Amino acid sequence: MGTRVPARSAGHDPPASRSDAKISPTDTCLQQCISPACGAQYGIDEALVACPRCGNLLDVMYDWDRLRPPDSLTHFEQKWNRRRCLHCFSGVWRFHELLPFAPVDRCVSIGEGQTLLHLSDGVGGYVGVRPGRLFLQYEGMNPSGSFKDNGMSAAFTHARLIGARRAACASTGNTSASLALYCSVTKLMRAVIFVGSGKIAYGKLSQALDFGALTVQITGDFDDAMARVKEVTQELGIYLVNSVNPFRLEGQKTIMFRVLEALGWEPPDWIVVPGGNLGNSSAFGKAFHELQQLGLIDRVPRLAVINASGADTLYELVEKRGLRWNQGAPTESLTETYYDEMDRQGRRASTIASAIEINRPVNLNKCIRALQWCDGVVREVSDQEILDAKAQVGAGGLGCEPASAASVAGTKRLVEEGVIGPDERVVCILTGHQLKDPNATVAYHTTDQKMFNDVLGKRGVRRPAFANRAVAVPNDLDEIIKAIQLYS
Ligand code: F0G
Repeated sequence: MGTRVPARSAGHDPPASRSDAKISPTDTCLQQCISPACGAQYGIDEALVACPRCGNLLDVMYDWDRLRPPDSLTHFEQKWNRRRCLHCFSGVWRFHELLPFAPVDRCVSIGEGQTLLHLSDGVGGYVGVRPGRLFLQYEGMNPSGSFKDNGMSAAFTHARLIGARRAACASTGNTSASLALYCSVTKLMRAVIFVGSGKIAYGKLSQALDFGALTVQITGDFDDAMARVKEVTQELGIYLVNSVNPFRLEGQKTIMFRVLEALGWEPPDWIVVPGGNLGNSSAFGKAFHELQQLGLIDRVPRLAVINASGADTLYELVEKRGLRWNQGAPTESLTETYYDEMDRQGRRASTIASAIEINRPVNLNKCIRALQWCDGVVREVSDQEILDAKAQVGAGGLGCEPASAASVAGTKRLVEEGVIGPDERVVCILTGHQLKDPNATVAYHTTDQKMFNDVLGKRGVRRPAFANRAVAVPNDLDEIIKAIQLYS
């Protein structure tokens, strides 16, 4: 059964203030079970992370006939002239008409979504496409350094509408950093974060601690933390901001709107994204599906979701075992059997890309729906491929964390396989900033064999093909000059 948290009931956090008390459900927007066989509908005044009737995921749905969205995407260009207004400045809320679940003046923004679509011929050459074809959507420019802020501004907006006072998440690090940041900037809620002990990169942990979140480190990994946070939030009536929250994904749709904006509203051929809990891929699918239904685009890009080979549930289920959305009737037994096997064998996800080190992705069903809508494919790449791709991204100046580079490594694979053609326009999503995980970067470039082995060698990384090694010299002017002349 799903988790149902009434907006107001005895034993739950009361609304923050009278003005923040819950709004009435609108008749233009509701939550709906993604399973066509169920299709149950709920008001947007409820905090739900699963359908109370059947346990499936929920979508935020709009009555577009009554909401009357713009008839051309160029409509959004005029927002830039009004950017002194925060809701026109925000890279999320300037697309408000495409996620209109709250009045615009109630939408929470801390200036998220000022991100960049960067044409990178260097990375393009590395993956094997022609100049002018490879773009990096650099979500590391968000206030907390990852794409999560797109979804957090939307989840926060909903949480505020229903009067939540505390918000929680389980996290591999970026969701928690984002939640902690939104709490500390807005003071609307108190953050409670659950992380797997030793499973979070230091850049991310340092953010949560600095921003003052109540940080609960539990023994176990992300999946353990996720299971616990669901129990705890239900028990205590705390608002859950993981991507099972359908409002989070509304915010993440805007990453695709910005990609289109940067490409002059012309859809690319491919969107390539790392897959962890599968919130992004699900949100991107919904974004394109809605744009197409609204007649705002005439072509949907293909979607490639890239797993780390040490955390390859989606790849295994889709590409090896044939799991498909199948118009809303996926063969659930394929997933159940696979999860049983994992448990029986005691297999747990393990990858240097800690952000996507996830066994049971919570958005699996939405992701396979997105794969159907976007004629998608799934691939898995090794930690070696991820780190080499990351070094290539870094060499172009817009560094990213390991999970993000899975998109570039995956593109390289797909070009080698001939699935992506060298003339196709490809957008790789760089989900998180390079400084999120400095340990992985330093270990890749180090001359210290022990450090290399401890961090990377044990994960099967053999040769850092693009290492930029620091040069050790004595504190002597002649030696320093000699070294510079030798190496530069
Ligand atoms: N890249 C980064 C940098 C991430 O932090 C995450 C997810 C993903 C990719 C995967 O995205 O879940 O939408 O498929 N991080 C979550 C977290 C799990 O807790 O920060 P997804």
